[in-house]
Amino acid sequence: MRVETQGPEAKAERMTKPIRDTQGPRHVAIIMDGNGRWATQRGRPRLFGHHAGAKRVREVVDACPDFGVKYVTIFAFSTENWKRTQVEVAGLMSLFRRYITSEARALRKENVRVRFIGDRVRLDDKLINLMDELELMTADCTGVNLTIALNYGGRDEVARATRRLAQDVADGRLRPEDVNEETLPKYLDTYVLPDPDLVIRTSGEARISNFLLWQSAYAEYEFVDTLWPDFTAEEFGKLLAAYGARDRRFGAVKA
Ligand code: IPE
Ligand code: IPE
Ligand code: MG
Repeated sequence: MRVETQGPEAKAERMTKPIRDTQGPRHVAIIMDGNGRWATQRGRPRLFGHHAGAKRVREVVDACPDFGVKYVTIFAFSTENWKRTQVEVAGLMSLFRRYITSEARALRKENVRVRFIGDRVRLDDKLINLMDELELMTADCTGVNLTIALNYGGRDEVARATRRLAQDVADGRLRPEDVNEETLPKYLDTYVLPDPDLVIRTSGEARISNFLLWQSAYAEYEFVDTLWPDFTAEEFGKLLAAYGARDRRFGAVKA
């Protein structure tokens, strides 16, 4: 993957679709679930569903500026997903490599800044290089912030953060009395992102499966029956509109 990232042509090539100012959520996190069932319903292997699911991501990301969504975070592979068959895991890893390679140019053109969260240690070098390249290539994009959670688990993230925090305390860079709700999240993978306002899960499961545990403490949730490969921008828009009607109190009582 070689794409020119510097220079005036690179800038001119980029679309600058403004992000609308709406009453909707600023940060939406999505648990893209149901690919396997979608494929099984069609008598096809699970990977067929993963490929169909990957195609849906573009539609949702493209819709974000119109709906006023500045950050979208998608759950692509969890720390628990290694428990699946070797065929499915290898197929997913190959899909991620292909996805990054084929989508990179379009993402940059649409001014999408891509980041990855999760533990990279278990991923193969080729995939890590592609992830690094895509992050670098879109580092100066100013539109939608797309974060892809890959080998991500909320508990794993908190454990890794705590390990680094403990090291800072041991090395005298942080005092134990300074560990609080403001300093701890600086050690999380999401340290540059605001907390999600809305978490959407497709496929009818009403659980969060270890996604953004710390960050979603006060998020609103939408669980929809649609399987991820059938999820459309239209349905996304309806969920965002419904969010506008919610009363977020954060523990307080409105006057
Ligand atoms: C979500 O779809 C994608 C990943 C977890 C990688 P699933 O593969 O979990 O699909 P179902 O839940 O089995 O239908
Ligand atoms: C959550 O879906 C992980 C991703 C969408 C990547 P799973 O399908 O792995 O979750 P469970 O097993 O139903 O909880
Ligand atoms: Mg699932």
